[in-house]
Order: sequence, then structure tokens, then C-alpha cells
Amino acid sequence: MNRLDLLSLLLGVYVLLYLTSVADSIKWLSLAMSSGATATISSANYCDSLVGLVKRQRRICKKNLEVMESVKLGAHEAIQECQYQFKNRRWNCSMVDPKSLFGNVLKLGTREASFVHAISAAGVAHAVTRACSSGKLTKCGCDRTVKGPSKDGFEWSGCSDNIAYGIAFSKTFVDAREKKSKKSGKNAGRRLMNLHNNEAGRLAIEQNMKVECKCHGVSGSCELRTCWRAMAPFREVGAIIKEKFDGATEVKSVMTKNHPRLVPTNPQFKPHTKYDLVYLVASPDFCEPDPKTGSFGTKGRVCNKTSKAIDGCELMCCGRGYETRKRKVVDRCFCKFHWCCYVTCQECEREIEEHTCK
Ligand SMILES: *[C@@H]1O[C@H](CO)[C@@H](O)[C@H](O)[C@H]1NC(C)=O
Ligand SMILES: *[C@@H]1O[C@H](CO)[C@@H](O)[C@H](O)[C@H]1NC(C)=O
Repeated sequence: MNRLDLLSLLLGVYVLLYLTSVADSIKWLSLAMSSGATATISSANYCDSLVGLVKRQRRICKKNLEVMESVKLGAHEAIQECQYQFKNRRWNCSMVDPKSLFGNVLKLGTREASFVHAISAAGVAHAVTRACSSGKLTKCGCDRTVKGPSKDGFEWSGCSDNIAYGIAFSKTFVDAREKKSKKSGKNAGRRLMNLHNNEAGRLAIEQNMKVECKCHGVSGSCELRTCWRAMAPFREVGAIIKEKFDGATEVKSVMTKNHPRLVPTNPQFKPHTKYDLVYLVASPDFCEPDPKTGSFGTKGRVCNKTSKAIDGCELMCCGRGYETRKRKVVDRCFCKFHWCCYVTCQECEREIEEHTCK
């Protein structure tokens, strides 16, 4: 082996190690898939049985066993929401191997990685907050600081969502990933990117809290209104974070006074705020399969013949064209209501045209 070969081999190994360590930052999400039974959650080795946690996260898990079911739920909802928000796009948030969630695309500091970080940090905050409000946890309940008369003429009362607890827990647990080996300058940019996007995801919940009210009085006359602060449904939070994905800022890491900082790559752009998503690496176009970038390509994907948007066949198939086939689908039809109380239906077959990318 000559020197050049050896050098490129070493470089290859280095790049591989680098990528592996960075992708670790989202491994905890795989606990959404682990089927640990609720019955075992009270035992201390529950935390050791969860896959994908770092040491610090295992420690937090052991101290907060009762919260872990919500963390798992939050991770699961985050993945579902990602797949929902991206179902019509070339990168559809799919997973090849549940152990290496989302493939390689998250190993690079792409826009897609920024979304996954934001949505999962938000997922945990949302699920933990819901558990607090429903009285399932001993460490938290409703936010009782929201009380008394409001200037809009109603009374603050009832169970306001304790978003502060959910956000603090998400910060402790999700961000714990980024705290390890803080001193080494390596990956500093990526770590900052992850922390920034985690926080932006959580802020999307806090920024979109709603006021929900109930009327009291004779036959719902609403003489007295009591209101409380409630989180938006997670579907709405997902849509907001998706908008942030579309407007994400490309940044680079620079050192100022020995501290790394993220600044926009294009100095002409308005600097990002703490509410925006940021990314370090431009995404591939996801047209062709490429294990290096984590792209599966769009061959075989269903597309919409008449749409001019990204779900349309032209863009989805990257100009390669599409195939059309007829498919039979069976629907329920001619449904009849019988007194009382059941419904009978017939099954009707109809043919639909389906287009898939070549
Ligand atoms: C997402 O894309 C992959 C790869 O193109 C495909 O196998 C999978 O079925 C898609 N998932 C959905 C929900 O469309
Ligand atoms: C396809 O796109 C058109 C135009 O955007 C839209 O009206 C239609 O509902 C879409 N069809 C499906 C099946 O999504």
C-alpha cells in the first residue's frame, strides 16, 4: 500500500467515525420503537433495556421513571408527524432500518436533520406536558400560576398546561445528547445546530399556546367565562415546524473569542432568530438512491399527475417520467341505517389510476 492509499484510507475511517458519532445525537428516538412493557417500567433496569440512550440519558431515565412512558410516546408521535408532514415530498421521512433511523440523511447537518431534531424535542415536551395536565405524574400537574381575573373580562381558572415542566424535561433529556465531550472543538458546529433546533422546536409549542374557555351561567348563557392556557394540538405544532423547515437558514460555525457561534452563510440574509431552524449542509436532491447522503431516490413513489407542486409527477420523478396503472379499490357504499341501531353497506369496486415514478 502506498502512502496516498493509506492516507485516503485513514481519512475514510475518520469520516466514518465522525458521521457515526454525529448520528448518535438522535439515536434516542429509536426508543419509540422499543416495545418495553409498561409493567416493567417501574424496575430500574427498564432504563438499561431501552436502546439508543447515552449514559447521561440513562441516569435521567432512572431518576424519572414515571416520565419515561411520555418520552416514548413523544418520540413516537414525532416520527409519525415527520412522516405526515413529508408524505408528499421526495424525502418522506421514511426509515430503512429502524436502528439507524432515517438513514444517513441525519448524519449530515441538513435541513431534514434540523426538522427531525425540532420535532422530536417538541414531541417530548408536548407529551410530558399532556401527562402533567392529565394528572398522571406525581412531579407535575396543571399550571396553577394562571389564575385570577383577566383584563378581557373572564376568569383564569381550570387546568392550564404546564408547558414549563414539559419544556424543561425535554431540555434535560433530549439535549443531554449534545452535552457529552463538550470540550472537544470537533463537531462543535453540529452540536450548536442540534441544540438550536431542539430549542426552536420547543419554542414552537410555547409560541402557539391558546386560550380555551368554558361558559357558565343559566343554560349556557356565558355570564361567567373561565379560561385556561392550552397547547395547540401536536398536528398544528408539526405544521408550524414544517413552515420553519421551508424557511430554514443555512449557517456556518465561526469562532469568536474562542467560542463557536452560528452565523448565516450568506451575510446578506437576515440573521436567524431562536425561533428559526438552521442547517449546515445543503440537502441532496433525493432523486437517486445514494447511501452516502441517505437518499432512497424516488423510483416507485406515487405522484400526482396534475399537480405542479413537489408531489406532482414532474418534480417527484425528477423528469424521469412515470408509469400509470389501474388499480381496483373497494369502498363501502349504499349504506343503510336500520332502526335501531346498525348500518349495513354493500361493497363497491371502483378503478383508480395510479402514477408511480420510473
Ligand atoms: C417513502 O419513500 C420510500 C422510498 O422511496 C418508499 O419505499 C416508502 O414507501 C415511502 N413511504 C410512504 C409512506 O410513502
Ligand atoms: C392532485 O393535485 C391536484 C392539483 O394540485 C389536486 O387538486 C388533487 O386533489 C390532487 N390529487 C390527489 C389524489 O392528491
